[in-house]
Amino acid sequence: MCGIFGYIGKKINAGEIVFEGLKFLEYRGYDSWGVAVMPSEVNPKKNSEIFIEKKAGKIGTSTISDMPRANISFGHTRWATHGKVTTINAHPHLDCTKRIALVHNGIIENYEEIKRKLIKKGHKFISETDSEVAVHLIEDYMKSMDIESATRHAFLEFEGLNAFIVMNSGDEKILAVRNGSPLVIGYGKNENFLASDASAILTHTRTVHFINDFEMAILSKEKIIVKNVHTARLVLAKRVNLDWKTDFSDLGQYPNFMFKEINEQSQLIFNIAKSSAKLIQEIADIIKTRKNCYLLGCGSASYVAIAGSYLFAKLAKKQMNPAVGSEFGYQLDFLNKDSLVIALSQSGETMDILESVKKAKENRASIVAITNTVGSTLYREADYKLPLNAGIEISVASTKALTAKLSYLILIAHALAGNMKEGNNMLLKAGRSTEKLLGKDSLKKIKKLAKKLKNSKNIFVIGRGLSYPASLETAIKIKEIAYIHAEGMAAGELKHGPLALVEKGTPCISFLPNDETYGANLAGAMEMKARRGFIIGISAKPHEVFDYYLHVEDAGVATIIPNIITGQLLAYYLATIKNLDPDKPRNLAKSVTVK
Ligand code: F6R
Repeated sequence: MCGIFGYIGKKINAGEIVFEGLKFLEYRGYDSWGVAVMPSEVNPKKNSEIFIEKKAGKIGTSTISDMPRANISFGHTRWATHGKVTTINAHPHLDCTKRIALVHNGIIENYEEIKRKLIKKGHKFISETDSEVAVHLIEDYMKSMDIESATRHAFLEFEGLNAFIVMNSGDEKILAVRNGSPLVIGYGKNENFLASDASAILTHTRTVHFINDFEMAILSKEKIIVKNVHTARLVLAKRVNLDWKTDFSDLGQYPNFMFKEINEQSQLIFNIAKSSAKLIQEIADIIKTRKNCYLLGCGSASYVAIAGSYLFAKLAKKQMNPAVGSEFGYQLDFLNKDSLVIALSQSGETMDILESVKKAKENRASIVAITNTVGSTLYREADYKLPLNAGIEISVASTKALTAKLSYLILIAHALAGNMKEGNNMLLKAGRSTEKLLGKDSLKKIKKLAKKLKNSKNIFVIGRGLSYPASLETAIKIKEIAYIHAEGMAAGELKHGPLALVEKGTPCISFLPNDETYGANLAGAMEMKARRGFIIGISAKPHEVFDYYLHVEDAGVATIIPNIITGQLLAYYLATIKNLDPDKPRNLAKSVTVK
């Protein structure tokens, strides 16, 4: 949420470097953007006003004009929390003198109180944001101290989880401070970088330090110093060399990232089927020793958690409690040293997950991180780590990371049951079924269905057992990228209320895999048909109750994977037929780093 990119170095086109870095980070927030450029020695006047260019709208379609030559710059892509989407509310924000600039990620929970005090002291505010308070508070502290101390003092006054980047005209440095929101610094040669996401700086350098909570990084051209915010003492920055791939921004033959990432899934499932048995077995062995285990996720990942609870019960007779990240904090009373929390997160930066993990650790539970982002906060916090290796996911709606999480849970559950080989076979079947699903004829059929459903106001999605989380997942995808209200539910719940909404032509998607749920699932489809609903059957075999049939080849318990991918494709086609951008749905952003 909110992309941040900063540059300090020998090059004199810092503004353009930052602008390009921000374009890469747009998936983190895309309602507005802005770049600040510090007048430097290449400019005649030192200590002059900071140059700012900012705009409402997506950075991808923007250009920059007349950026002054300079070697210090940072910028921000915004996902609005406080204040409407306007140019004035876009970051960077300036103090009254226009010599201090700041970008912010997070929420200053006590900003109103601080703002009132600052207004009394004569500070003039122009935006509706909480962020602007930070730059004025730093300005105020600077009446009696330098920029470093002022930033530290201001930061410690704020409640909430925040990251700030600050520059002060005339001081040839960038300051970065964090508690909660992700920030990473990159070490170059006579130049240094800063970003909210390590992948954004990989084209410049692979040597990074992930800034920890209550650390302040002071970047100059030649060096980076890291200090403890409380004590101002030097901290030894742990440099890491990242060997991540950098070909992620290449769309190749695909029109957008969502379609590219959907199409990468069959190969990914095959890769996971052949992945390290040792690591999977290690995680299974840890699970075996724990009395109470929790699977934790947000949004789509919470549906993977529900699927996991069915898989572990069915395959390994092990109780797994699925939990939603934002709610878990209210359920911690049972956690103790015998508890295990398995946190599922693509980004590894989802605040609701990080907060829950922190509290779980306070209760002495151990943490397993199943994440796509090596080096993320979750990865660093966890006692045991399982990287998804799905490759960077750019599209806001999670697709391949989600199926990777599911694939690993299938393997772990099999390993726990002492039957890893069977798990591998199931995944190979799921990979083959997915390959067929992604074939030309199958895609044509899903697209045709999307054309039929594009004007729908409501869509129901039902299933039982593993098809229940598949239904929830299909519904969230339809909602978030096609902007159609869709309700996913356990098929048995239909008759307890929602059936009242089914009328002639209401689209009802029913998952009917070849398992013990088939008969009861069919009953749900029949109930909808009896109310003249339009029944879409997703199954390995056709049935006369279906008004529209989508074939998904059976892959045993792993059929949930191609079933979910069918839902992804339907949502994708619904979005593109409606001329919506599937990669950047309205009001959303990748990596939800606020509570
Ligand atoms: C939905 C979607 C979101 C994420 C959720 C968790 O398509 O992408 O619901 O799954 O925000 O994100 P991570 O996995 O990064 O914790």
